[in-house]
Amino acid sequence: MCGIIGYAGSKPCAHGVLLSGLKALEYRGYDSSGIASFQGDQIKIVKAKGKIKELEEKIKDVPESTCGIAHTRWATHGEPNEINAHPHKVGQITLVHNGIIENAAALKKAYEKRGIVFKSDTDSEVACACLAILYRTEKNKLNVLREAAKILKGSYAFGIMFEDEEGVLYGMRKDSPLVLGIGEDGNFLASDLSAFVRFTRKYAVIDENQIVRITNKEIECYDKDLKHIELKTQISEMDISTIEKNGYDSFLLKEIHEEGKVVMDTIHHYMTQSLHELSKTMIDLKKYDHLYFVACGSAYHVGLLAKNLIEKYARIPCNCEVASEFRYNSPILDEKTLVVCISQSGETADTLAALRMVNKMGIDSCAIVNVKGSSLEKEAKYVLPTLAGVEISVATTKAYCAQVAVCALLALHASIDHLSSLQIHMIEKQLLKLDTYIHKLISDTKLDGFVSSIINKKNVFFIGRGMDYALSMEGALKLKEITYIQAVAYPAGELKHGTISLIEKDTPVMVLISDEHLVDKSISNMKEVKARGAKILLVIREDLYHENIEADEVIFLPKVSEFLQGIVSIVPYQLLAHHIAAQMGCDIDQPKNLAKSVTVE
Ligand code: F6R
Repeated sequence: MCGIIGYAGSKPCAHGVLLSGLKALEYRGYDSSGIASFQGDQIKIVKAKGKIKELEEKIKDVPESTCGIAHTRWATHGEPNEINAHPHKVGQITLVHNGIIENAAALKKAYEKRGIVFKSDTDSEVACACLAILYRTEKNKLNVLREAAKILKGSYAFGIMFEDEEGVLYGMRKDSPLVLGIGEDGNFLASDLSAFVRFTRKYAVIDENQIVRITNKEIECYDKDLKHIELKTQISEMDISTIEKNGYDSFLLKEIHEEGKVVMDTIHHYMTQSLHELSKTMIDLKKYDHLYFVACGSAYHVGLLAKNLIEKYARIPCNCEVASEFRYNSPILDEKTLVVCISQSGETADTLAALRMVNKMGIDSCAIVNVKGSSLEKEAKYVLPTLAGVEISVATTKAYCAQVAVCALLALHASIDHLSSLQIHMIEKQLLKLDTYIHKLISDTKLDGFVSSIINKKNVFFIGRGMDYALSMEGALKLKEITYIQAVAYPAGELKHGTISLIEKDTPVMVLISDEHLVDKSISNMKEVKARGAKILLVIREDLYHENIEADEVIFLPKVSEFLQGIVSIVPYQLLAHHIAAQMGCDIDQPKNLAKSVTVE
C-alpha cells in the first residue's frame, strides 16, 4: 500500500538513494511522500503532497546525509496532505509506517492525557508516540521496540530513527512486509526489494515479529523476545529491466507487451511439451468435492474463469467469491474443500485474512501468487506460482494473464480424463505458441474506431455470456480504473431485465463473443441494444464472425481452445483502456485514489 525505504551508508548520498527507492516504490502509493535524515545530531524532515518529484524539489535545499528513512503514502487515516505524510516525529522518535494500527484511537486518547499533542490524523503518529513514551523511561532501544510490539495492535512495518543515535536505523514488522538489503557501502531497509535492487542484490527477508538494527556496516536481527537471530541472506535475480519503462510511455503498455513472455514462462514452469506433465506439477483437484476461489478485483475475475472451466470440464462444483465477502459470509467448507486464493501481490489484506481463516479451520488452501516470499505464498498449504515478474503498473495486465494461464492448467489437469487425445494434442500445440497469438493480437488490433466511440461518453457497457462475461468484467474494470469512464459489465442476457433503459443513441456497448455454443444467443442480445440506438463495438473470435452480424466496429480474436481463450481475449480490452487513457492524458500507471497492493480491509 505505502512504500518504505531506509538507508544507512558510509557516504553522504542518502537523499539520492532514498529518492531512487521512493521512485521505485511510487506504484505502492503516491499521494504524498517524505524523507527524514540525520543532520549531525538532529533529524531533518521534509514532506510533500503529491508525486515524488514534488519531494525531490524540496529536498534539494537540505544538505546530503549518510542515513535516513523515507515513505510514499496511500492515505488510509487522514487526507493526503503534508501533515499526514510520513515520517512522523514525536520526542526522540521519527518513523515511517506501512499498515494499520487498529487500537490507535484508544491509544491516542491515553497519550493525549500524558501530554502528547498530535499534529496529524494518522494512526502512524500514534505508533510514534507509543515509542516516544516508552523511551521516556526505558533507555534500551531494543526493549522499547519489544514493548511497543506488545501494545500496538494491527499491522505494521516500521522504519525508525532515534534522534540520539546518529547513523542507526531500526525496523520491525507484523503482517506487513519488510526486507533488508546488504550493500558494500551501506545497508537498506525497505517494504519491497525493488526499492534497493539497483544498489545491491544481496538481501534478507525480515520475518514476522522480528526487530532489526542496521548501521552502515552491521545488521543485527532479533526475535520478539530479543533473542539474536542469524539472517539468511539471498541473492535477488530480479531483472532490473522489469522495473524500468524501457522506452514505453507507461509501465502498463510495457507490461501488456510482456504478456506473451510471462504467459510462456508461467506455462513452462508447469510443463514443457505434454499436458500429462501436469500430474507432477499441479494439484490433484479430483480428491476434492468442492472448490472455492477467493480473491479481489482482477484476481477475482480470474477466479470466475477458473470456476467456469472446472465446472464445465472437470465437473467439480466451484464457488468464486470476493475475499471481503467470503470472510464475513458463512462459507460451507469441509475436509473435502480446497480454497484457492488468487493474488498478484500476495499481501492483499482481505485475501490474506480469508486464507488465514481457512487455515485456522484446518481446510486445505492453495495460493496462486506472483510475489515470491509474500505472506500468501508463505502461509498457503499449496502454492502455484505465476511467473509474471515485477508488475509496476497499478492496473494489472500481465499478472492477470499469468493467473489465467495457471487456472487454465489447473482446469486442464483436472479435466484431462474427459478430453480426447486429439483435443489434448491440439491444446498442447496452442499452449506452446500462446506468445505468438498474443504478439499478433497486440500488433494487429486496430482500436481507433473503438476509442473515438468511447471517449467523452458517460456510460459504457460490456456484455458477454459465460467466460465472456467474466472477461467483460475485467474489461470494464480496466477502463474505469485508468480512464475514469463509468463502465459496467453485464451478462448479455440480463440487460433487458432493467439496464437496457440506460441505452440511448450512440451508447457504446462492447460485446465479447468467443464461445461458439453461445454465439447466437449473444448476437440476439446485441440486436436488442442495437435496436435502441447503441453503438456496437464487437470483439469476436474470427471463425464465429459472418457478414450479417451488424456491428459498428469489429476486432477479431484468434480461435484457440476454450481453456486458453481467456488468456488472449482480454488483450484488446487492456489495449483499449490504455489507448483511451493515453488520449485523455490520464496518469496511466498511477490512477487517482488507487494503490498497487491493498493491505487494508
Ligand atoms: C485491477 C487490480 C486490482 C487487483 C486487486 C487484487 O487492475 O490490479 O483489482 O487485482 O487489488 O490484488 P492482488 O492480486 O495483489 O491480490
